[in-house]
Amino acid sequence: MTNPVLAESPLPIPSIPKLQTQVLLHKARQPYEVETARKVPILESGELLVQVQAIGLNPIDWKSADYGFALPAFPCINGREFVGRVIQQTSTQRPDIRVGDIVLSVCTDYRDFRKSAFQEYAAVNDFSAVRIPSSIHAPSAAAVGVAFVTAAIGLGVCLGLTFPGPETLQLIDLLDVAKSQPKSEIPEDVHEEVFDAIPPSNRPHTGDWILIYGASSVTAQIAIQLAKWAGLKVLAVASLQKHGDRLRLLGADKVIDRHDLSKAAEQIRSELRVPIRFAIDTVGSETAQWCQNFLASRTGVQVRRSFFQNVTNYLGLSSSSLLHLICLTDTPKVKNTNVRIHKVPIKLFHTNRTIGRMVGQWLSILLGTGDLQLPDTVFEDGGLDMVQPGLQRIKSGELSGKRRVIRLSDPQNGS
Ligand SMILES: NC(=O)c1ccc[n+]([C@@H]2O[C@H](COP(=O)([O-])OP(=O)(O)OC[C@H]3O[C@@H](n4cnc5c(N)ncnc54)[C@H](OP(=O)(O)O)[C@@H]3O)[C@@H](O)[C@H]2O)c1
Repeated sequence: MTNPVLAESPLPIPSIPKLQTQVLLHKARQPYEVETARKVPILESGELLVQVQAIGLNPIDWKSADYGFALPAFPCINGREFVGRVIQQTSTQRPDIRVGDIVLSVCTDYRDFRKSAFQEYAAVNDFSAVRIPSSIHAPSAAAVGVAFVTAAIGLGVCLGLTFPGPETLQLIDLLDVAKSQPKSEIPEDVHEEVFDAIPPSNRPHTGDWILIYGASSVTAQIAIQLAKWAGLKVLAVASLQKHGDRLRLLGADKVIDRHDLSKAAEQIRSELRVPIRFAIDTVGSETAQWCQNFLASRTGVQVRRSFFQNVTNYLGLSSSSLLHLICLTDTPKVKNTNVRIHKVPIKLFHTNRTIGRMVGQWLSILLGTGDLQLPDTVFEDGGLDMVQPGLQRIKSGELSGKRRVIRLSDPQNGS
């Protein structure tokens, strides 16, 4: 396929190869393997073909392999975000993106292996491709895509937070945008989260507090910034010694040490005498349980097990004062009906053109203005061979709030 803008591109565009190298997972609980002579994706309408230059590694990449979830078929190609150069375009829907441009892809559509990051060439939906401004160091953007999309959709859709739009964007109200879509354009399994999960009267107000547990995680670092722009106050729970300074710099109003959670709850109780109706847990079931109990305790709502059911609430709240907890990783084992549990409907990013476009455009502008503080990032050269060892290092916990980005060599520009 030819593209009229090809001649204007400053760098030579490679011809499109038929075969490429990919990183494959043949079975759960086995290491990834690098394999050559694999097919290059064939584009469908409305897609870009991108030569991958830098891959951001995410915890899901090792967790899904180790625990055997989110692996739709074998061999599986994983990888949730990458930056690369557009070498082919099948539509004219994105006049702002041309062959030769650098884009960030956030691969929420993990069922379509053509779009996964762990390969040399990948397909990207044109509507959600994030154009990388030439003013920034492009591989850095590979560290922030998944975290931004998760935090934006989590805060914006699950809680209905609104954000001041940078530059040309008006006020960003993702919940209103999502609700105004025809139901047929929102996947059925997220209808409840989009259309029913938060009543209008429950949406946060300026000055409300939000508790962010696991606040040093990269997703939380972005969530802190978005929450502050939306006018909330942020109570961050994390390792105070390791991350306190950084979290304050990002805007956290209060940072509490995570190592003794009973002590943490007591400290918050004595130092912060305001209601807290919103929380995010980024870590797991037990910490989500702590967050839920914490929210409930602020209103005097108790969580108790009954003989006959796991879920009991003794002091019902009116629907306008429900409490809201976003769980990124797992939900509390014992539920409290006064605390609504939210799971981020992240698939909106690739299933709904309007939302995908809006979130992608927002991130592109923020990268250009420099308003969004990116996570500390460890860059590593060596290409696809470094994926498996890189994931092992994330799993070991040594990165501690940083992202690891693997750079692939790009023979066309010598980098
Ligand atoms: N549902 C979704 O759509 C979605 C999307 C994105 C991510 N996720 C999930 O969200 C989680 C966070 O992702 P991420 O990429 O932001 O993670 P990340 O940056 O890799 O998180 C690492 C951080 O987590 C902190 N941490 C680990 N265990 C902790 C604990 N018990 N208490 C407090 N902090 C703890 C570590 O703190 P220390 O430095 O103190 O060890 C470290 O700073 C992952 O489980 C990921 O799979 C879900």
